[in-house]
Amino acid sequence: MKFFVAGSTDFFAILLLLPAVQSAIVPTPEQGSPGRVPGRPFPGFPPRPPRPSGSSVAIQSSSNVGPTPAPSSASATGPSPTTEVQFGQIGTLIVLPTPLVADGLKPIPGNLDPAHPFIAPKPGDQRGPAMNTLANHGYIPRNGITSFEQAVSGMMEAFNLEVHFAAGLAATSFVTRGNPFANKISIGGDSPLVPPLPGNIDGQTTGGIAKHGRFEGDSSLSRADAFIGNNRDFQQKVFNLDLAQLAKFGDDGPDGPHTVINVRTLVEMDKAQFAADQKANRKFALPARRMFAAYGQAALVMSVFANGTTNQTTLPIINSFFRDEKFPPNWYRAAAPIVGATNSKISGQIAAAIPTKPGKNNVKGVYIPDPAPPAPFNSSLPCAGYLDQSNNTPHVLQNVTGIFKKNVDLMTGLLFAVANANPGCTQFAPPAGPTGV
Ligand SMILES: *[C@@H]1O[C@H](CO)[C@@H](O)[C@H](O)[C@H]1NC(C)=O
Ligand SMILES: *[C@@H]1O[C@H](CO)[C@@H](O)[C@H](O)[C@H]1NC(C)=O
Ligand SMILES: *[C@@H]1O[C@H](CO)[C@@H](O)[C@H](O)[C@H]1NC(C)=O
Ligand SMILES: *[C@@H]1O[C@H](CO)[C@@H](O)[C@H](O)[C@H]1NC(C)=O
Repeated sequence: MKFFVAGSTDFFAILLLLPAVQSAIVPTPEQGSPGRVPGRPFPGFPPRPPRPSGSSVAIQSSSNVGPTPAPSSASATGPSPTTEVQFGQIGTLIVLPTPLVADGLKPIPGNLDPAHPFIAPKPGDQRGPAMNTLANHGYIPRNGITSFEQAVSGMMEAFNLEVHFAAGLAATSFVTRGNPFANKISIGGDSPLVPPLPGNIDGQTTGGIAKHGRFEGDSSLSRADAFIGNNRDFQQKVFNLDLAQLAKFGDDGPDGPHTVINVRTLVEMDKAQFAADQKANRKFALPARRMFAAYGQAALVMSVFANGTTNQTTLPIINSFFRDEKFPPNWYRAAAPIVGATNSKISGQIAAAIPTKPGKNNVKGVYIPDPAPPAPFNSSLPCAGYLDQSNNTPHVLQNVTGIFKKNVDLMTGLLFAVANANPGCTQFAPPAGPTGV
């Protein structure tokens, strides 16, 4: 999940947040949540579109429940409203964490914080295209398996992301490569700690966020294209292309001439990666979802990695986050929560500066633009990206029940809210993609 930053919250923060989390059950869209994305003109979730008939089935009946016996307390007190068993798997109702109480400038991890030292991953720990820094500092579990709330809280605590922004980033990964019923995702590849979706409705495994295709894609700033090489781990050779753009187009700063990231540098980085990969990768593809994510991820370099005291993202800072997967020494998170609109303003500037349309290579290695999506999804790149992402999210998520459905609705509602913040992007797009890919 490249779009989904390289960072997060740790167990310590989670513990602190837990009581608040319990009281902060955010209604699902159907329950009329305002679903407001601060900083964006989003008034509320629109009415849900009609569901296919299969979606109205009642909560999984006991005959569908696998070998796991119901807890004995259930007969006395009734089933817990926050957990449920489907096909022998325990699901948990997902809730949005409450916003940070102290949401200002803060050194991260900070010398006085013994809970977040850098510790390199152990064998077996999952690492991937994003979130590694957060895992290496224990802002999300160090084994690289995280719940939705842990991921969101981690991004809030370490990067001061506003809760809906963080939740939108997490949601994309969860619905494409996680288990939104068991409430677990691997930030790397498959892990026995993340069970397949109940009933194996999307195949035998969830894939994890490093799995190419639905979300992970080509033209990364720091990973090779999956077809070329290692799309999971940092590649210095790929990153050197970014550094070369910084050396040409960066602003001057305390670390020397051309060492501070600006929008022009991000534009040139994206153009350089596109040019290199389009040429080297016979199967190069930059569909709308991936173009939108790639520009959004580039924007994060400016919006999220900036030193909160100076608002500057410098050469040593990007080396630390990308190459070392460590918080830079003496780094401060943003002075105020970063909302999605802050990032989309930068990604919009990147998109406006690059005329390339979403598309892919043909068999001769010629880049061919994809057909425009139908209205209203043709209204903007974010809207086209939203439809394309939904069309690459397994359609069976439309057909789930109980807590599974509530969790999916929370996430698809968050994602629609992000899309709907763009003028004209008024139509909900349900998960409509293939399974088992
Ligand atoms: C959708 O739900 C119906 C009713 O429970 C079920 O018969 C069908 O197999 C489900 N389809 C998928 C793809 O899960
Ligand atoms: C950094 O950005 C914040 C939020 O936009 C602003 O309040 C602050 O004055 C900026 N600081 C500097 C040093 O530019
Ligand atoms: C962040 O800014 C502060 C204040 O200017 C500075 O002391 C510190 O070294 C900077 N940290 C990084 C990682 O650039
Ligand atoms: C979107 O498609 C509709 C129908 O083809 C067309 O009328 C409209 O101009 C398109 N909008 C944009 C922004 O291209």
